Amino acid sequence: MKYDFDRVIPRRNTNSSKWDNNLAMFGTEDVLDMWVADMDFPCPEPVVRALKKRAEHPIYGYTMPSQSLYQAIIDRMERLYGWKIKKEWIVFGAGVVNGLFTAVQAFCRPGDEVVVQPPVYYPFYNTIRNSGVTAVHNNLEFDGQRYTMDLDGLDNMFAPSTSFPVRAPRIKAVMLCSPHNPVGRVWTREELGRLAEICLENRCVIFSDEIHCDLLFKGHKHTVLSTLGSEVEQSTLTFMAASKTFNLAGLGTSFAVVPNDYLRRRFIEARMGHPGGNLFGLEALEAAFRDGDEYLAQLKDYLQGNLEYFMDAIATRIPRIKVIKPEGTYLTWVDMRGLGMTGQELQKFIRFKARLAFDDGFAFGPAGEGFQRVNLGCPRSIVVEAVERLEKAVNEL
Ligand SMILES: Cc1ncc(COP(=O)(O)O)c(C=O)c1O
Repeated sequence: MKYDFDRVIPRRNTNSSKWDNNLAMFGTEDVLDMWVADMDFPCPEPVVRALKKRAEHPIYGYTMPSQSLYQAIIDRMERLYGWKIKKEWIVFGAGVVNGLFTAVQAFCRPGDEVVVQPPVYYPFYNTIRNSGVTAVHNNLEFDGQRYTMDLDGLDNMFAPSTSFPVRAPRIKAVMLCSPHNPVGRVWTREELGRLAEICLENRCVIFSDEIHCDLLFKGHKHTVLSTLGSEVEQSTLTFMAASKTFNLAGLGTSFAVVPNDYLRRRFIEARMGHPGGNLFGLEALEAAFRDGDEYLAQLKDYLQGNLEYFMDAIATRIPRIKVIKPEGTYLTWVDMRGLGMTGQELQKFIRFKARLAFDDGFAFGPAGEGFQRVNLGCPRSIVVEAVERLEKAVNEL
């Protein structure tokens, strides 16, 4: 079927955290919402059909993943990423952030450290700090156009300090964002290989958040970290979901793939709540993974069009602002440092002058100040409107 992603579907008054929370989040109702990472598109028709069918059975009791759901995940991992996984490696959960929390609880004690690579998806910080663990920074490097990992810097983080007081690092894990939110990098095999090598040498596990793996722009290919070899696979917990790709975030469902028996046991023991999962979330996940290809192909084309429009419009009409070209995700990282404002001034300018709801760069950790994250998972007319608002506000400066 042909999806009409141009259609604007009003989301106000649907308890949408993106559209119904403006006063609390932004201090004004009068903004165009392009922040939190869900899309303003309907989800795939096979998903709607599966949910309606299940909803008709009037008992919504405790549930469990079906054999056919496990198989849908196993098939998809092999088909899209050449990753052969086993059923018993899959652990379902109530969202990737929830899974990351569990992983920190399972593998770290208070006082331990987890590496993050900012600017990075800000809930990573909560998953670490709420457990009394310290987030330590291996900042991405930025040459003004493109971000790369500082892998030598990462390597050095594992060395004991040479100055007084001597202290040994207590790094237990690296929390990897792949593809990277917000900067949109799709890490190469080489980058991931070196990162994995450093982690293996230092006996450090990797929490690999690959939730955006399907959403790639033309010419880019996602490498599942665990496909780099069995040693890497044995040290990695991979977190995935159908929620970004197929717009199902409200269903609170995800899965982790943990091939190592010992790591998986510890991870499962740390898990809270009922292990069965969300009845509707599991139904939706299976329908999306089995029958969502047509949707995904059209979605990627549409997002490519949105990105090209946005990049071109900003470059020609608002040259003081620069869009960092993403390789994946539907999020764009926009460099507004040319406006010469502090992070707080920029926040006010975007909300109250441009009347836009974006995510403030400073929320993503150090080096985010002066940037804004813009969600392009919306009908083109919304992107057009956003550029107009921004252009007008910048011209009035
Ligand atoms: C990198 C990353 N991880 C996790 C999530 C959230 O996942 P979930 O809703 O499954 O907790 C997001 C949502 O934006 C994300 O960008």
